[in-house]
Amino acid sequence: MRKKIVAGNWKMNLLYEEGLQLVRDILQAKPVVAADRLAVICPSFITLQATAALLVDQPYCSIGAQNCATHLSGAYTGEVSASQLRSVGVEYVIIGHSERRQLFSETNVMIAAKVRQALDCNMKVIFCCGEPLEVRDEGGHNAYVAAQISDSLFDLQSADLQNLIIAYEPIWAIGTGRNASVQQAQDMHAFIRSHISGKFGEAVAQDLSILYGGSCKPSNAKELFACPDVDGGLIGGASLVASDFVSIINSF
Ligand code: PGA
Repeated sequence: MRKKIVAGNWKMNLLYEEGLQLVRDILQAKPVVAADRLAVICPSFITLQATAALLVDQPYCSIGAQNCATHLSGAYTGEVSASQLRSVGVEYVIIGHSERRQLFSETNVMIAAKVRQALDCNMKVIFCCGEPLEVRDEGGHNAYVAAQISDSLFDLQSADLQNLIIAYEPIWAIGTGRNASVQQAQDMHAFIRSHISGKFGEAVAQDLSILYGGSCKPSNAKELFACPDVDGGLIGGASLVASDFVSIINSF
C-alpha cells in the first residue's frame, strides 16, 4: 500500500538555530504517527546533519535535501552530491522543483541525471512537476506534466519507482495563496498515475505516492488529502510554522 507523506520544503529560510528549534517544536507537538504515514523535513544544507541527529529515533519522520548535483564528485564548485548528502544521514531529496527549473535553468535532462545520482546513492527522490499559469489557461497542463515525467523518469527501471515520490506543484499555486481546487488536484494526480501506469504498469502506479504542493495549508489539507489520488503534500510556507505543519500532517 502506498504511503501518506507530508514533506516540508523550507526553501532558503531559517538560520541554523531557528531551523533546529523548528524541528524540536514539530517533535514536541507530537504529530500522529502510523505505519503508513511519513513526514519528511527538508531544510537548507547547513541544517541537514543536525536535523538528521534530532530525527534519529523518529521512524516516521525523515530528513530530506532540496537539491543534489548531477555528478557524483569532482570539480563542481558549490555543488553538493547525493553521496555527500547520504553520508550525513539524508534519506530523501527534492529534485526538479519549479524554482530550480525557473531560477537555475534546470532542464528535464539535468533533472534526470540528478534522479539517477540520488537513486544510485540509495536515496529516495521527491520528483516535482507542474505547469505554469499560461499552460493551464490554454488547457495544455496534462501534456506539459506528461512531458516532464517522460523526459526525466522514463529511462528508469520499474524497481526504481519504489524509491520515487512524485509531487505535483502547479507553479501558479506555489507561494501565491491560491491552491489548486480539489477537482484540479485529483484530475491531475489521476492523470499522472495513468501516465506512470502506461510506462511501468498498474501495480507500480498504484504503489506510487503522489503529493500535492502549492499553497497547501491547515485549512485546505484535509479536503485535498481526501482525494483518492492525492497521497499527501509538499508544503512550503506552512512548513515553517510548527503548528501548521503538524496540523497538515494530522489532516489524513
Ligand atoms: P508553498 O510552496 O506551500 O509555499 O506554496 C510549495 C513548494 O514550493 O513546495
